[in-house]
Amino acid sequence: MSNKQFIFSSIALAVLLPFLAGAAPVIQHACGRAGQSLDGTWRAIVDPYENGYYNYRMQPMRTGDTFFADRHFYADPTKLVEYDFDAAGTLEVPGDWNTQREKLYYYEGTVWYRRLFDAQPKPGCRYFIHFDGANYETIAALNGEIIGKHTGGFTAFDFEVTKQLRAGQNSLIVKVDNKRHENGVPTINTDWWNYGGITRSVRLVEVPETFIRDYVVRLSADRKSVEGWIQLDGNAPEQQVSVEIPELNWRVSARTGADGRASFIVPLPRKSGIRLWCPEDPKCYEVVLAAGQDRVSDRIGFKTVSTSGSKILLNGQEIFLRGISIHDERPGAAAGRAFSAEHARTTLGWAKELGCNFVRLAHYPHNEEMVRMADEMGMLVWSEIPVYWTIAWDDPDTYANAENQLCEMIARDHNRASIIIWSVANETPRSPERLAFLGRLIDKTRALDPTRLVSAAMEKDETSPGQLTLVDELMYKTDLLSFNQYVGWYDGDADKCDRVVWTFPVEKPVILSELGGGAKYGRHGNVNERFTEEYLVRLYEKNISMMQRIPGLAGCTPWILKDFRSPRRALEGIQDDFNRKGLVSEKGEKKDAFYTLQNWYLSF
Ligand code: GCU
Repeated sequence: MSNKQFIFSSIALAVLLPFLAGAAPVIQHACGRAGQSLDGTWRAIVDPYENGYYNYRMQPMRTGDTFFADRHFYADPTKLVEYDFDAAGTLEVPGDWNTQREKLYYYEGTVWYRRLFDAQPKPGCRYFIHFDGANYETIAALNGEIIGKHTGGFTAFDFEVTKQLRAGQNSLIVKVDNKRHENGVPTINTDWWNYGGITRSVRLVEVPETFIRDYVVRLSADRKSVEGWIQLDGNAPEQQVSVEIPELNWRVSARTGADGRASFIVPLPRKSGIRLWCPEDPKCYEVVLAAGQDRVSDRIGFKTVSTSGSKILLNGQEIFLRGISIHDERPGAAAGRAFSAEHARTTLGWAKELGCNFVRLAHYPHNEEMVRMADEMGMLVWSEIPVYWTIAWDDPDTYANAENQLCEMIARDHNRASIIIWSVANETPRSPERLAFLGRLIDKTRALDPTRLVSAAMEKDETSPGQLTLVDELMYKTDLLSFNQYVGWYDGDADKCDRVVWTFPVEKPVILSELGGGAKYGRHGNVNERFTEEYLVRLYEKNISMMQRIPGLAGCTPWILKDFRSPRRALEGIQDDFNRKGLVSEKGEKKDAFYTLQNWYLSF
């Protein structure tokens, strides 16, 4: 590396290093804090060669020479400026860029966003820019100063801007790059569209100097107490804090230590009359947390989940998970990333109509509106990080990235009653390196959250013709025998369902995390013809019959609720860039197989 290169890369590192260190967990319930939304119309510059960040030798430039400087071409025509946000086009935030501009349909690279906004910062308050999510690598600057960098397309993050925020107009500039990487999480190959951009909401959050950064309030395993912890952030970490559930006449007061943290466990009043959260009665309670100047109000449901042999127990009662898999795509012909409460209400409404009490939010953490809507609508949730297919198992940076996304997924959602399963992977080819990688993630998950089940979507094996089982060593680390199987589609035809026998080497609850096949809505023909509605109905009939013969079956999440975009699905006239395994078309049209599954679910 030449001297000059060394200087440049050191500058880049010096600028970003403070942000690369273990960032504090995301502000809990950021959407419920004081502040202002920064959603809306942003200026956007498409920069496929990252000319706004690197010099011609691809070395990072000084911030003042990058697009973060927000120079204005017309300000001084004697100066050479080759970009100008004031003259640039626009993109809506939240939203992927692929479905906003025809030219960006396949685009993978960098787009620069700029949002001008007014603020009146108050003394004694702190300010953060909170992103619900942006895919894939984000660097942000406020008023020309870098405020942070984040990697990962599906988790929330925030950058403190107390120093940079000024009274009057502020310029927030965000570089988002959705290029895929061999050592990324996910890696370069997936069966979903690589939607890029600030795909979820952005807001300026205002909190007191010492504020409640994070908390957990949950039911104890014996369902007799409320327990948890509260974490302060600020220069007065030792304070008297309180947590209250007014409707249950339950309250606790505690003092945080020098680390800003206080834990608690307090029995529920004898006649509290608590309604345990469940699909039939998704009762959420107002929980009020207070610490000095800060007060946070959240809606939390109280439940326990556990296993006993091959049974899943919700609040100590056996439950069968009547599920469906879902991608984080908004309903409607344009598809694209989902981000609103309305998108969530429509999608979960379809799942409810199907007769579901459970959804697998594949293959990455969905937007927060989705999990909060699941709390309110009574839909149990499997939540997953995108450790998908051929990850770089022996790359320490890849593991650090995966573990960081796991921590961020759990940090955002550890108070969501609907979530019962954390999944660390999907369909990952078995190897010693992969087993070690996933074993570490499972251990980390249990350490972060001992109250939920931990699993992964493994793959079934056929040890001899018709003898189906699971041999994946990962099953000895997970709470569930959860695996994808496509008998009738990738594996033989629908009649094969009648010929197979399932056995398992251990007794744990069995979840079929994927099953199904493709059909284009309205395409009819011979029952043996692929992609016809008739084929899909028969495939579901045969799979449902087969599932009823699977020992220890505790649930399933057929693939998938809605047709979704994928670059792998190029069959013109039938797929047209859509994976057609949905029971509902991207336009919301219900295929005949929707009713086949619905009939089974409604028979429970
Ligand atoms: C796999 C994978 C899914 C994919 C599906 C399919 O099981 O987990 O992400 O979309 O198969 O082939 O349609």
